[in-house]
Amino acid sequence: MEHDAQSHPIISLRDISFAYPGRPPVLKNLDFDLYPQERVGLVAPNGSGKTTLFHVIMGLLKPTGGAITLFGQPAEKEADFVAIRRRIGLLFQDADDQLFSPTVLEDVAFGPLNLGHSRDEAIAVARRALDRLGLSEFEDRITFRLSGGEKRLVSLATILAMEPEVLLLDEPTTGLDDRTRETLAGLIADLDLAYILISHNTRFLEQTTDMTYSMEDGHIKTDELLQFHEHVHAHPHGRIPHQHD
Ligand SMILES: Nc1ncnc2c1ncn2[C@@H]1O[C@H](COP(=O)(O)OP(=O)(O)OP(=O)(O)O)[C@@H](O)[C@H]1O
Ligand SMILES: [Mg+2]
Repeated sequence: MEHDAQSHPIISLRDISFAYPGRPPVLKNLDFDLYPQERVGLVAPNGSGKTTLFHVIMGLLKPTGGAITLFGQPAEKEADFVAIRRRIGLLFQDADDQLFSPTVLEDVAFGPLNLGHSRDEAIAVARRALDRLGLSEFEDRITFRLSGGEKRLVSLATILAMEPEVLLLDEPTTGLDDRTRETLAGLIADLDLAYILISHNTRFLEQTTDMTYSMEDGHIKTDELLQFHEHVHAHPHGRIPHQHD
């Protein structure tokens, strides 16, 4: 994608390394930039470090080396991440990490309340987010009794209710039936937000992202786009700005 001279990355990772205690490195010398309006897919085998990468970007895991810059600010200490975390919406791979309130409405209103909205405002924002995802009927449901697919959608509502500037979506289609997945693809594609989307579903990636990268040996292969986007990028120019006629 072409970037004008004024455009700075929203997320910038340089030479990032990360290892879980007592384990070999999961991320190794990883470089990556996400620019405004970019919609990037990430597909790589199980255990490649995709989820780990998202948690490093959010400051939930501290890299053992390298530099993270978020919205133009270096992010090193916990305080740096606290300041920007609300601007990044992370959809956890496991919905049970995301949802913790007794009812759906309380869960979705929790974020806006935390951002300082009054209770009435938070509920209005939460209802709008639920409505957007076709979940209006769900507001009084007991969160932990929802089905897997329902939890996935409510999780997404909790994120959208925070009005983030960028999304990190970790396998948003898990547990969704074909029709719900198609609806979700349209909804995500219509968002006016930059995002990184992890998925193993080729069709979903085609519908929602402009480019898709893989991960190998602890880093993102930004030098090559995956083949199934050949209708968009029929040549291996990767991120070098280029024109399509
Ligand atoms: N808390 C942890 N402690 C130790 N090792 C971990 C921990 N979490 C993940 N790992 C290991 O780190 C590696 C990367 O895991 P990660 O969850 O980031 O992969 P992933 O690409 O998201 O995989 P998947 O497609 O299955 O979700 C794996 O080998 C995994 O077993
Ligand atoms: Mg994962």
